[in-house]
Amino acid sequence: MPQTSERTAVFTESVIRRMTRVANRYDAINLSQGFPDFEPPSALVAALAETAGTGPHQYAVTWGAPNFREALAAKQSRFMGVPLDPDRHLVVTCGSTEAMMVAMLTACNPGDSVIVFSPFYENYGADVILSGARPIYVPLRPPDFAFDPGELRAAFRQGPKALILCNPSNPSGKVFTREELLAIAALAEEFDAFVITDEVYEHIVYAPHRHVYFAALPGMFDRTICVSSLSKTYSITGWRLGYVIAAPAIIDSARKVHDFLTVGAAAPLQEAAVTALKFQDDYYAQLLDAYTRKRDVFLSGLDDAGLRYTAPQGAYYVMVDVSEFTRDDDVGFCEWLARDVGVAAVPGSSFFHEPVGHLIRFHFAKREETLAAAGERLKRLRDRWRSPRM
Ligand SMILES: Cc1ncc(COP(=O)(O)O)c(C=O)c1O
Repeated sequence: MPQTSERTAVFTESVIRRMTRVANRYDAINLSQGFPDFEPPSALVAALAETAGTGPHQYAVTWGAPNFREALAAKQSRFMGVPLDPDRHLVVTCGSTEAMMVAMLTACNPGDSVIVFSPFYENYGADVILSGARPIYVPLRPPDFAFDPGELRAAFRQGPKALILCNPSNPSGKVFTREELLAIAALAEEFDAFVITDEVYEHIVYAPHRHVYFAALPGMFDRTICVSSLSKTYSITGWRLGYVIAAPAIIDSARKVHDFLTVGAAAPLQEAAVTALKFQDDYYAQLLDAYTRKRDVFLSGLDDAGLRYTAPQGAYYVMVDVSEFTRDDDVGFCEWLARDVGVAAVPGSSFFHEPVGHLIRFHFAKREETLAAAGERLKRLRDRWRSPRM
């Protein structure tokens, strides 16, 4: 038999998506893979139903249907404070997952290096390998997940082609401050690197923290490749609608990569999603209120269970310190937690380059009653841990 490619041998199957299967096996409350258990906005569901009758049902323009790009450019210009031209600054993709791959293939030649902060969203590891690049990891050290400016400079000295910036951050919940972003910007300029931003949680930033768009920093638009999506903002992770925003010269290349990867995002879903892109500011305020309440419910469940964690500043994840139970077997711990306590989490080691085995990640994009039920189960964690284990 012929062998499959070497590049597929050097990364593993997604641990996050495997934990969803573990959760299903044990009928656990699934706080591993980050997707909501509540419905998207009703206006959006109605628009989808209408689109089923009216279409379009054939390919859209490969880099995005014109009405979708117009609505997206208007919405993002408003939030980013940067004027965006729907015909020159955007590529619509199949989720930000494709957008990140497009960004990597657009920015990097095989053999280039890319700075990745660790812990990182696990897709970046595979994205870097698939694009033939080499990661340079820079630690964000728990519990506050700050970077050391000296370590970052040393990484830039290695001549990376790009830095991947996940802000707000999955898994840490960190929201980079303007000062931190300006420090990254200064290094990107000095060492002439792209900054590829993943901003899928741009609208989920808890007070008093604020989201600063890297592309909007002085002089940064031309070297930023902004990746984001509609998945989290409108609770439609299954619609697979994402995008790249960048300067026209970058977009010209990105369109070609996207065209040959997927041809385009689903035309009827782009049509229906125009409704969401036209939502007014109150939608985003309500979204944030809802997530702030979810965060409060879940964190108070963790408090009641006596678990230590870093309170997230943004996104919908929380890293919990389980060093009192294990320091090096977070994978075994998460399997036990799903089976014996009935709550599924992701082992923190799947996000870290460094050997970190005492953290696990929960997500709280769930109904408040689901989160309260998870809190109740977690209260039993210690008793279950003390009882004899198989
Ligand atoms: C940081 C981050 N980026 C990207 C994605 C994937 O998003 P999409 O549905 O847009 O592909 C996720 C999903 O969990 C994520 O957490």
